Parts: sequence; C-alpha cells; structure tokens
Amino acid sequence: MTNTTTVPQSVSNPDVAAGVAQFLSPVVIDLTALVVNGKQAHWHVRGANFIGVHELLDTVVAHAMEWADMAAERVVALGLPIDARVQTVAAKTTTAKLTAGFQQSNETIREVIAQIDAALVSVNAAVAELDDLDQTSQDVAIEIARGLDKDRWFLFAHISEG
Ligand SMILES: [Fe+2]
Repeated sequence: MTNTTTVPQSVSNPDVAAGVAQFLSPVVIDLTALVVNGKQAHWHVRGANFIGVHELLDTVVAHAMEWADMAAERVVALGLPIDARVQTVAAKTTTAKLTAGFQQSNETIREVIAQIDAALVSVNAAVAELDDLDQTSQDVAIEIARGLDKDRWFLFAHISEG
C-alpha cells in the first residue's frame, strides 16, 4: 500500500529545507535583479553590433527568469516560502546599480557581465554550501552556474581583444 505521507528526506527535515532556502534565496534575488537590469540594458544599448547585443540580452533575461523560477520552486518544493518581492530584491541584491539611459554596447556588455559576476558569487556559494546539505538542491545551483558561465562567455566574446 502506498504511504502518501512519505516525503523525501530533504522535505521532512526542516534543517535541510532552511539551509536550502538560505543559500538559494540570494540566487533567486540576484537572478530576478538580472531579469530587470537585463531588460534595461536591452532597451538602451546602442552602437556596435546593436542587433546582436540587443537580442542576446533578451536571451540572458529569459535564462535568468527560467533559473530564478527553478531555484525558487526548489525552495517551495521543500515547504518554505521565497521572498522575491520587488522591494526585497532591490534591498538585498548584490548586483550593482546600472548606469541610466542610452549606452554604447561595449559599456552595456561590461555592466551586464558585472551583474552576472555578482549573481555567480551567490550561485557558486550555493554550489559549495549545498554539497553537504542537499545534493538535489546543489544540482539546481550547478545547472544555473553552468548556464550563467555560458551567457557570460557569449557577452564577453563581443568585447574580448584576445
Ligand atoms: Fe525587446
């Protein structure tokens, strides 16, 4: 007979769930900030390689939204809430404030790469800390890290001189 009260260990252990929430919440917050700031960059980029950079920034935004959703839903699946309200994101994100207004593409790319690098600090901390805590959640962080590294490369290739 199926026991419908049986749940994964990580769900039934509140310490595990709390730890996962501790390390994935900053990931959700920084990726949500990257969604907003990536759109800002998408709208205001000008100059060299305009259409390629404009469209690539939308890909970065779509990925950030997808990964924020994946990290948030891992926490919720373990039974805890996520706070990614806009005011919370603004208060807690580690991403820097973007320069306002229109901007040449090389500078836009540098600023968005800095946003990705800030998010990667949170993501890589989650990868390291979740290793002992919950490897299923660590896998979420690893997938995000791999994807952010790739998007960073796609952006950096536009401004690389080597
Ligand atoms: Fe657009």
